[in-house]
Amino acid sequence: MPILPRRTKDSPDQKNGMAHVIAIANQKGGVGKTTTAINLGASLAVAEQRTLVLDIDPQGNATSGLGVEDRNSRPTVYNVLIGQSPAKDAIVREVHFPFLDVIPSTRDLVGAEIELVSAFQRETILRQALAPILDDYDFILVDCPPSLGLLTINTLTAANSVLIPIQCEFYALEGLSQLLNTVRLVQRGLNPSLDVEGVLLTMYDKRLNLSRQVGEEAREYFGPKVYRSAIPRNVRLAEAPSFGQPIVLYDVLSSGAQAYLSLANEVIEARNRARSSAAAETAR
Ligand SMILES: Nc1ncnc2c1ncn2[C@@H]1O[C@H](COP(=O)(O)OP(=O)(O)O)[C@@H](O)[C@H]1O
Ligand SMILES: [Mg+2]
Repeated sequence: MPILPRRTKDSPDQKNGMAHVIAIANQKGGVGKTTTAINLGASLAVAEQRTLVLDIDPQGNATSGLGVEDRNSRPTVYNVLIGQSPAKDAIVREVHFPFLDVIPSTRDLVGAEIELVSAFQRETILRQALAPILDDYDFILVDCPPSLGLLTINTLTAANSVLIPIQCEFYALEGLSQLLNTVRLVQRGLNPSLDVEGVLLTMYDKRLNLSRQVGEEAREYFGPKVYRSAIPRNVRLAEAPSFGQPIVLYDVLSSGAQAYLSLANEVIEARNRARSSAAAETAR
């Protein structure tokens, strides 16, 4: 069998353009945003995609769930947003995997939401801060807080697309129109090319009618934007963060790990399709 040269983070084939920035958003809490940021991030890194997980939720659950500690001694996303520190300086490198970096969050971020209100061009601060590091990554995943406030607006303004996790329970789709309205507002003014990356069914139980119903409704509304990979309810996914580990390390054979790996595949495939159709466009 031929031995393929190993990809390294700096090999020339990695210089394939700018990062694809994905906001993981839903103003409902507990739908699986953070679990998705952690585990899609880790799964992309395992597939040797240069990945940055940016935690922009003051609760810092993605930060702690990835085992990033000692946040007081170095800059965090807070310092980046208030202009105290370039994004580069807030990056924690090679978290568990060579291809996984993290920009951590802290409670201070609650203050940023208020401090930013009076800032000049307050909605585009994150976009400007990320610009210098876009070349260094294939994917930047941003874990949004459970609100549609200024932190989420900044993220939608900086992002290429939004990935929406939907928890498969009663009223799953309720409130989605509010999120989609916000997406439209951002498209109209701040970021015309913002797209819906995909819709992810989380805590899916295929034995339950309810889960199937939510899946069907989501497909009626979003069509092929709904990922084929649904994330099952899996206790291992809930346990892993207390060990500071993504599921691929904590229990790679669990159904949760397999689902996030297969989601990463879909995300990479979609990216490759978009790249080749863009290339075909330019060739014409
Ligand atoms: N697929 C899943 N199976 C079991 N528990 C899950 C799953 N996804 C998330 N959880 C748990 O549900 C809770 C909420 O998930 P989380 O990702 O923090 O949501 P959000 O970031 O949207 O608030 C957490 O305790 C998490 O561990
Ligand atoms: Mg969260």
